[in-house]
Amino acid sequence: MENGSPPKPDGSFDLDEIRNSSDGSMTGMAKRLFHQVMQGNPYFAAGGGLMILGSGLALARSGIIRGSRLLYRQLLVDLEIPSKDKSYLWFLEWMSKHPNRSSRHLSVETNFIQHDNGAVTTKFSLVPGPGNHIIRYKGAFMLIKRERSGKMIDMTSGTPFETVTLTTLYRDRHLFGDMLLEAKNLAVKAKDGKTVVFTSWGPEWRPFGQPKAKRSLPSVILDKDIKQNILKDVQEFMNNGKWYFERGIPYRRGYLLYGPPGSGKTSFIQALAGELDYNICIMNLSEANLTDDRLNHLMNNIPERSILLLEDIDAAFNQRKQSAEKGFQSGVTFSGLLNALDGVASSEETITFMTTNHPDRLDPAILRPGRVDYKAFIGNATRYQIYQMFLKFYPGEIEHGEEFCRKAMALGVPISTAQLQGLFVFCKDAPEAAIEMVPTLASPDHVFH
Ligand SMILES: Nc1ncnc2c1ncn2[C@@H]1O[C@H](COP(=O)(O)OP(=O)(O)OP(=O)(O)O)[C@@H](O)[C@H]1O
Ligand SMILES: [Mg+2]
Repeated sequence: MENGSPPKPDGSFDLDEIRNSSDGSMTGMAKRLFHQVMQGNPYFAAGGGLMILGSGLALARSGIIRGSRLLYRQLLVDLEIPSKDKSYLWFLEWMSKHPNRSSRHLSVETNFIQHDNGAVTTKFSLVPGPGNHIIRYKGAFMLIKRERSGKMIDMTSGTPFETVTLTTLYRDRHLFGDMLLEAKNLAVKAKDGKTVVFTSWGPEWRPFGQPKAKRSLPSVILDKDIKQNILKDVQEFMNNGKWYFERGIPYRRGYLLYGPPGSGKTSFIQALAGELDYNICIMNLSEANLTDDRLNHLMNNIPERSILLLEDIDAAFNQRKQSAEKGFQSGVTFSGLLNALDGVASSEETITFMTTNHPDRLDPAILRPGRVDYKAFIGNATRYQIYQMFLKFYPGEIEHGEEFCRKAMALGVPISTAQLQGLFVFCKDAPEAAIEMVPTLASPDHVFH
């Protein structure tokens, strides 16, 4: 027998047998010894069996995993939307409105909307929170996973990086496109007829609250022709892109509106943006933590179709004086502002509006063409404006309007359009009361109550 005699029942080894039946070499003897150990020792025999079973199972398991991965790859598709992408918020918003969904985790997104009159309303939207959600879209099921990626923080906005991963069957992959388009259309529709106001947030522009209803151009009453002239100039500029490119001139135009407070400068620019279907990026140069670098970066990264509005540009000059006198360190320097203005060069048109109450404080360097190409004085109310404002609040009250104008002009003091608005709002639907209250216009700080 090739394998020799069976091992002894007591489990001990037959050394003679090993020596005789092997060919005498060390390898041969080792083989025999192993054979005896395996056959003779029941524990080893059972262990061997288990080992084989275990490795078989492990193999099967990895086979199943590999198989299911293959199946997953073949049958399912993923779409990843990182939080940096524009469609991220659109998608979350869309999903919060989608009817066929099962979400147990919701997060709240709160938006403050500040109205013209300073009132603030709050809007909560419940968007899908981190975790898994299932939705049904056009008959297909989709698994939606919203995840925070660990400790990574988006340095620009201070929020954690997130991703939303959508998974569905391979055959339904075309639905991703439909879904994103629907989400985008929803976002665009929400902005339809509205103006998005962007403010600076660190080094980036962020929408300030929800898009605001457009302010109509006729609702801002400026002296004769001012509105039309500016509008004509802007439209001409916008229609002449080719002309600028052919001549290699930076495609930008700067406007300066100057005049006393409450004369409608900001309101007009907002209405103009609405008229042109543009958004507005508002930047206040008197902001304390604004530096030259940030200003430059922001001005060169304006969202598309936006008017850049630089409020109180005299601040860059004021603070220079203050820093000399009071040791106050201002953020933006005059040269920083000029550099930023000169550097703004994008392929899209750039329309910059600047406002100031103190044109006398401006350095002439800012007024040179290329920085300011169009200047307009927006002053206190003229007779024409008083009359128009009156008729806007009390339509058809022509005679009362005449009387109101006469009395107001007789005061012989400058009256701002904001003051008129204050009075008319106080005397809603009561033109006679408004006429009686004309003397209050003599003090610009009069508070109506
Ligand atoms: N010409 C105007 N026509 C209609 N409303 C006006 C006009 N001027 C001012 N108002 C009203 O007065 C308020 C203040 O106006 P706005 O903020 O536009 O003034 P401003 O010129 O930008 O003032 P400031 O120089 O202080 O920034 C707004 O509520 C606006 O509706
Ligand atoms: Mg203003």
